[in-house]
Amino acid sequence: MNPFKHARNWSTKALPQKDPNFGHPLDTSHGPILYVEGVTVSFDGFKALNNLNLYVDEGELRCIIGPNGAGKTTMMDVITGKTKPDEGSVYFGQQINLLELSEHQIARGGIGRKFQKPTVFEALSVYENLELATAGDKRFWKTLTRELTGEQRDRIDEVLGTVGLAGSRSNDAGNLSHGQKQWLEIGMLLMQSPRVLLVDEPVAGMTGEETERTAELLTSLAGKHSVIVVEHDMAFVRSIARQVTVLHQGSVLAEGTMDQVQNDPKVIEVYLGE
Ligand SMILES: Nc1ncnc2c1ncn2[C@@H]1O[C@H](COP(=O)(O)OP(=O)(O)OP(=O)(O)O)[C@@H](O)[C@H]1O
Ligand SMILES: [Mg+2]
Repeated sequence: MNPFKHARNWSTKALPQKDPNFGHPLDTSHGPILYVEGVTVSFDGFKALNNLNLYVDEGELRCIIGPNGAGKTTMMDVITGKTKPDEGSVYFGQQINLLELSEHQIARGGIGRKFQKPTVFEALSVYENLELATAGDKRFWKTLTRELTGEQRDRIDEVLGTVGLAGSRSNDAGNLSHGQKQWLEIGMLLMQSPRVLLVDEPVAGMTGEETERTAELLTSLAGKHSVIVVEHDMAFVRSIARQVTVLHQGSVLAEGTMDQVQNDPKVIEVYLGE
């Protein structure tokens, strides 16, 4: 039995069509901002996700670990609307049914996703990349020929500080290091003020120092945003982890603090058996 099932308000209140934020404030009065319940995704009969349950609280920093093929990326695909599950439900707050929304609507509605490969505009400056991101989508010319409001410029300055790129604002994004490009992309997501941020393997390919700074960045974002981080680098996960979820064969194998999951015999078996 799922304890949340009855706690949630199942009202079928229509989504406001014109409001990309679905009429904030989002209802998180029961705690979680994200409800993934009984989700199954099959690819030709193979269950990439198998009755997956995941609840993420508002402002939480959640780490998701698990061996290759466990379903971590597929889980992000479901939350962001890229993949529609065969079974289960996915709610944003208590009233927004994400399964009824497109990938674009979900992104606009407050769930930002960072893919592994940075997709910054290399020929533009750091500042211009953030300027573009204020538009909510990548309507290039329209944004660059439009005057930003003072408020938008302040927000860009704030985000530059948050992601540690204030000193590189005029540099071409193409000249940034791999780590800096990743931070810029996180900054571009932050321009949308997302409620939930999903980051898939953020420190892959980073230097040790970049990895440490990414840990600081993601930790600083928690509280203001709910942050879900998928990562294989266990030292990194340990450095930021509060609550950790271990996925295996499309389901939750264990959940708890890093120490709890690392000492869980089921988890040890799965990792040693890799
Ligand atoms: N579009 C697809 N078609 C067929 N199979 C897929 C598809 N997407 C994912 N899979 C399979 O589903 C399983 C879960 O994949 P997923 O990418 O979610 O794992 P992951 O936990 O992110 O792994 P990794 O740590 O390697 O990134 C894998 O066996 C994968 O091959
Ligand atoms: Mg993956």
